[in-house]
Order: sequence, then structure tokens, then C-alpha cells
Amino acid sequence: MVVTETLRLLLRYFTWDDLNDMATIYADPVGMAFRGSPRTFEETQQLFKWIFDNDSQVGFEMWAIIHKADNRLIGSCGLIPQEVEGQPETEMGYVLAKEYWGQGLATEAAFAVRDYGFEQLGCDRIVALINPKNIASQNVARKIGLIYERDITHLEKIVRLYVIHKSSLPS
Ligand SMILES: CC(C)(COP(=O)(O)OP(=O)(O)OC[C@H]1O[C@@H](n2cnc3c(N)ncnc32)[C@H](O)[C@@H]1OP(=O)(O)O)[C@@H](O)C(=O)NCCC(=O)NCCS
Repeated sequence: MVVTETLRLLLRYFTWDDLNDMATIYADPVGMAFRGSPRTFEETQQLFKWIFDNDSQVGFEMWAIIHKADNRLIGSCGLIPQEVEGQPETEMGYVLAKEYWGQGLATEAAFAVRDYGFEQLGCDRIVALINPKNIASQNVARKIGLIYERDITHLEKIVRLYVIHKSSLPS
């Protein structure tokens, strides 16, 4: 089922058929350099199980990014409920297969997910928690309007807290 669409991308719910493609993306040490370590196939399988077990809750999850030009699954972008410093937040996440980096595709997906969160899911505020060394990810966050607030400790790591409020966007 399609969640949202842009000029070049389609964002849709994952199915079990996507497991191999996502496992390949998550197994890439370069792509995962700022996200802990590469995931094994079994870890991605667990993640899929978690997504499918939680998807009917409130509609917040990571979605598959399909590149329309070649109809390939090239990554994932979505919104996940997250506790940050004891407060409930909605966190945006994104990951793309390395062959597709540097074409503005993550920014395009993140814009669409941001708008979906504000317009369809009723979010008032979206955050991103980013490794300070992850310049590409911070650029994506800034390009879609998130503002750096401060560094915080999250899950025992120092991360940059980026924030956007719905009220900061033109109506
Ligand atoms: C972060 C990620 C999704 C960005 O994907 P992308 O499609 O290359 O991003 P975009 O093309 O939309 O680029 C966004 C901006 O970042 C810049 N950028 C991209 N890669 C960069 C890099 N390695 N260093 C510095 N800037 C970079 C781009 O130039 C662009 O800015 P510009 O339009 O002013 O030139 C991709 O690098 C990725 O999947 N990384 C691994 C997973 C990850 O770290 N996810 C984020 C976890 S918080």
C-alpha cells in the first residue's frame, strides 16, 4: 500500500518480499558506518518482524522507498515513536542504498515523510537524532527544515538533536 509519492519516489509499506533487498542495504558497512554496525540477515529479519508486529498500532513506521525510474527498492524512510530524554517524540529516520546517494533522493523522501507526518499522522513536532560525524544525514535534516537544538545522550551515545515544529511551516 502506497503511503506517499514524490516526483521520483514512491513510499509504501514493506512486505516480506522486501527482506532480501533491505538486508543487503543494512549489511553494507559503508552505509551503516554511523548507525552502529552492519546488520546480519537475521537482524534485518527481526526488524521486519518488529515492523509488521507494530504497523497496525498508529501508522508510524519505516516505509520502503521505491525508485520509480527502475522500480527498485532503494532504502527506507519513516517516522517512529521514540522516547527522548524521558519525553515521547516522533523520530524521522532514513537510509539509502549507496549507489543512490548524492542525487537528492533522501531529501526528497524526507520532505514527503515530514509532510505526511504533519498532515496525515497529526504530528506537531518531528525530531532526528544524528551522529555528529554524519554530515550527509545532518544536511538532509537541515534541508527539510529541521533545526539543530543541542547534543544529547541517547541510548548511551552522543547525538545531535534536530527538531521541526509543524507551526514553523507556512500553512
Ligand atoms: C544520509 C543519507 C540518507 C543521505 O542520502 P542522499 O540521497 O545522498 O542525500 P541527498 O542527496 O538528499 O543529499 C542531501 C544533502 O547532503 C549532502 N551530502 C550528501 N552526502 C554527503 C556527504 N557524504 N558529505 C557531505 N554532504 C553530503 C548533499 O550534497 C546534499 O546537500 P546539497 O543539496 O546542498 O548538495 C545517505 O547518506 C545514507 O543512507 N547514509 C547511511 C544511513 C544513514 O546514515 N542514515 C541517517 C541516520 S541518522
